[in-house]
Amino acid sequence: MPVEAALRYWTTRGNSDRSPTAVCPRCTSPRYEAWSRAKLQAWTLARLARLAPGGRFRRVVDLGCGTGDWAELLAPIADEIVVVDVSPGFVDQAAERLRRLSHPRWRAECCDVRRFDDIEGADLVFLGCVLTYLDEPDVLEMLRKVRSRMAPDGLVYQRDYCAARPHSKELRTDTADYFSVQRWALRYLALAEACGLRVIECRPSWWVYGDQWATERLACCGPAAVRAGSAAARAVFGAAALASRACSYTFLYSAR
Ligand SMILES: C[S@@+](CC[C@H](N)C(=O)[O-])C[C@H]1O[C@@H](n2cnc3c(N)ncnc32)[C@H](O)[C@@H]1O
Repeated sequence: MPVEAALRYWTTRGNSDRSPTAVCPRCTSPRYEAWSRAKLQAWTLARLARLAPGGRFRRVVDLGCGTGDWAELLAPIADEIVVVDVSPGFVDQAAERLRRLSHPRWRAECCDVRRFDDIEGADLVFLGCVLTYLDEPDVLEMLRKVRSRMAPDGLVYQRDYCAARPHSKELRTDTADYFSVQRWALRYLALAEACGLRVIECRPSWWVYGDQWATERLACCGPAAVRAGSAAARAVFGAAALASRACSYTFLYSAR
């Protein structure tokens, strides 16, 4: 896979005013994108805060941070936050968000994640839609490096578009000038396990949207209503997802 083409693409894209998230060829509408991202972020944040000891992380490393909107959400539950991206434009935007928060310990670095080594002691490594731009040997090397350097009680969050078929390779259609690999979700699980990470969970995006929708709407009616609403909403969102050839998956791994 021509990883260098993806790097060139992202480096220039950071200087445009387009969001780094609007790259999916099946992008529906800006309104749906904003709705689904809000659901995903609220669900993920609640999940991570529940898993973090005392609800906080000591050191968060966000690899492929984009404009830093995830880092902005994670910063309040992190003693230290480090954001890394290959695109200088995105790194500037992420740095500006963290500066505005006046977080006491943050750092933004422009670097290819394959060459970034300062993962020492991280108890949350965040990989938001970045492994999809790397070849499989690079993915293995990255996950091995992360596993060996992160804190022994640390977590890894990964999100990526996954394919309905194993290893399908897709040319992104918004610019048609670079590749990403849409792997099978099970392939990512196998790669993570081969690197010594333990799988905590793996959820398709429609599952997350349904669960979050029910939590937001039905929390006032009690846990049984949330459970029933979540199952119904997941069935609806899942059926809609069947029509699409791929969807994003959220993976959570633990170092122990
Ligand atoms: C689809 S965006 C995701 C942004 C953000 N993590 C999120 O979850 O919304 C992919 C990001 O990964 C960055 N990226 C891709 N390949 C990279 C590499 N080899 N090293 C560092 N950053 C990379 C891009 O510049 C872009 O900001």
